[in-house]
Amino acid sequence: MTDFLIELYPWTKTLHVISVIAWMAGLFYLPRLFVYHTEEVEKGSKTDLMFQTMERRLLRAIMNPAMTATWVFGLCLVFTPGIVDWSSFWPWSKAAAVLAMTWFHHWLGYRRKDFMRGQNTRTGRQYRVMNELPTVLMVVVVVSVIVRPFW
Ligand code: HEM
Repeated sequence: MTDFLIELYPWTKTLHVISVIAWMAGLFYLPRLFVYHTEEVEKGSKTDLMFQTMERRLLRAIMNPAMTATWVFGLCLVFTPGIVDWSSFWPWSKAAAVLAMTWFHHWLGYRRKDFMRGQNTRTGRQYRVMNELPTVLMVVVVVSVIVRPFW
């Protein structure tokens, strides 16, 4: 099995990075939809239903499969011999940031349901602030895995 993973390494990493790009696109876009949904849309209107459809499709058709694929190929890389040295710093800083990103993904899922039930209580400003989180986490992840700071 491990020989198989070693042979597949370039492809596993390729599919990992492709899935990451799709996931990140959704993590940046969905909170932005929530900003306009909160600030510009009347509850129960035709536009409200349109935003609900856009948010549901983005989460279910793009973000959920992309997050799953990012984890599956990421864990394949973790189990590829010689790739991750857990005595280094970078796997831990990356793991912490990736777990925070996964929490944020689920937080967005709950907020989507708030809009669906007409029960959103957060302001456009709160969603704008939360929209900065995936950017900060992406910087931590990419610096961790490419620069590998400290030791
Ligand atoms: C979801 C769980 C994740 C796991 C388990 C994981 C694990 C890994 C591992 C083990 C590698 C291989 C490092 C190497 O080849 O030396 C890797 C590569 C990479 N990961 Fe992840 N990763 C995850 C999520 C992410 C996320 C969310 C991002 C970006 C925001 C990301 C960006 C990258 C990049 C850019 C590379 C290629 C680095 C290079 O070519 O040196 N990963 N990942």
